[in-house]
Amino acid sequence: MRLDKFLCDTVNLSRKEARDSIKKGHASVNGVKVTDFGFQVNESSDTVSFKDTPVSYEKYVYYMLNKPDGVVSATTDPNDKTVIDLFADEGRKDLFPVGRLDKDTLGLLIVTNDGDLSHHLTSPRHHVAKTYLTGIDHPLSESDIKALCEGVELKGDGITKPAQVRVLSPKLIELTISEGMYHQVKRMLKAVGNEVTSLKRLSIGPVRLDDNLKEGEYRRLTEEEIKLLKE
Ligand code: URA
Repeated sequence: MRLDKFLCDTVNLSRKEARDSIKKGHASVNGVKVTDFGFQVNESSDTVSFKDTPVSYEKYVYYMLNKPDGVVSATTDPNDKTVIDLFADEGRKDLFPVGRLDKDTLGLLIVTNDGDLSHHLTSPRHHVAKTYLTGIDHPLSESDIKALCEGVELKGDGITKPAQVRVLSPKLIELTISEGMYHQVKRMLKAVGNEVTSLKRLSIGPVRLDDNLKEGEYRRLTEEEIKLLKE
């Protein structure tokens, strides 16, 4: 990998800033100052330092975010703060959210730079279960629950796959779905004459939102969580 790319991926620098810094002599490889920004480094065996501090390169990184209200699940947005803006301190330019939560939906969002994992989790072929804590406008009847579990028609998208409903209280349910249609939970509740009043994702497949994460906080996924998500 080129030295300028290495520094872009590890230190919070644009490509131009990385090149300028390298030209000024701020980078060294294995203890030797390098001013050629096209210099090839081996990210697993070379020791790269930036301003005399060793910088280690991780190819893939994985985080769980407790998404707060009011931020969009995108990498950039002309009007709104994005979930990736919350990761500014990480100094990586290649992060993206896995799938989307609506701007007003809270809870578990995986953020990574691993395109294969993202594809695995969002591909319609894999049917990864996602559970949402869902506040609703009024209690569900037995027939509403049956309809949600068996499948409801969503205009333009067809009939939803079997879902699970757990009633926690008259106006709070857990809904588990295995697809990712646009606004799926809100539209499913609408299809049975109800309305979502709050929405928070609790889990994706076997990985559950860490109760210790406050809204807007994130942490690295553990090795075990990464393994479970890849299975
Ligand atoms: N379903 C929705 O309606 N919104 C979300 O953000 C996620 C699932």
